[in-house]
Amino acid sequence: MLKETLIKATEAGAKVMQEYFQGNFLISNKEGINNLVTEADHASEKVIFEIIKNEFPDHFILSEEAGELASDSNYKWIIDPIDGTVNFAHGIPLCCVSIGLELDGEMIMGAVYNPFINEFYFAQKGYGASLNDKRIYVSEEKEVIKSCLVTGFPYSYLDHHNGPLDVFARMIRKGVPVRRLGSAALDLCWVAAGRFDGFFEHKLQAWDSAAGFLIVQEAGGRVSDFTGKKYSPYQPHIVATNGKIHDELLKWIRDEV
Ligand code: IPD
Ligand code: CA
Ligand code: CA
Repeated sequence: MLKETLIKATEAGAKVMQEYFQGNFLISNKEGINNLVTEADHASEKVIFEIIKNEFPDHFILSEEAGELASDSNYKWIIDPIDGTVNFAHGIPLCCVSIGLELDGEMIMGAVYNPFINEFYFAQKGYGASLNDKRIYVSEEKEVIKSCLVTGFPYSYLDHHNGPLDVFARMIRKGVPVRRLGSAALDLCWVAAGRFDGFFEHKLQAWDSAAGFLIVQEAGGRVSDFTGKKYSPYQPHIVATNGKIHDELLKWIRDEV
């Protein structure tokens, strides 16, 4: 029932995205310029909530726009009703719904759906990761210099030492291709699918990475903070790779190469 509900809620949120996409919808600013929220984010969140609360009224919910619906349940749903809102607002079809499910503080299931290119990613702890029901695996690349990477930039804190711009410039100067898609959840799924060899970002929130980090791990990859420690979605730093370039990428990020 948990899996069915997760899939149903993810599909319902994505359907709302499709209904609003390229139409006229209200866009407002959160704190920070271009940190946007649209009518569609709220509408997607609403249908996702309805489905989850209908099946599991006592579960804990953490969602980007509504915040926490706290309860003492061992289950916690972590929801990004639209990841890649700036893309969405500009009619760029690189955006998705992302929902992760924790049990006793461990991520046990995650789903990420981009309806515009019809890619549904799913993972269950211990059972692997899939794209449209076909198993996916991370890439085989062993060296950062030959890798294709992806990153994202926060709305603030760009300029500090070893911050997002420093690390990005270091890699670009050495000729490493580093892309920027604008959706952390999709960045993670594209690592899981073997398209990117690695992803890193300096300031994510739990809802950006909750589903995607499990999907990378279940596709055979590794996810950590910038020190190489076990990843927690409740701290800002993330490095997610095919595993083979992980330790080397950590050194590039910390300026130790
Ligand atoms: C953003 C995206 C982006 C990342 C930002 C996030 P949103 O989420 O995941 O890729 O760089 O840090 O805030 O605002 O589109 O849900
Ligand atoms: Ca997000
Ligand atoms: Ca969002």
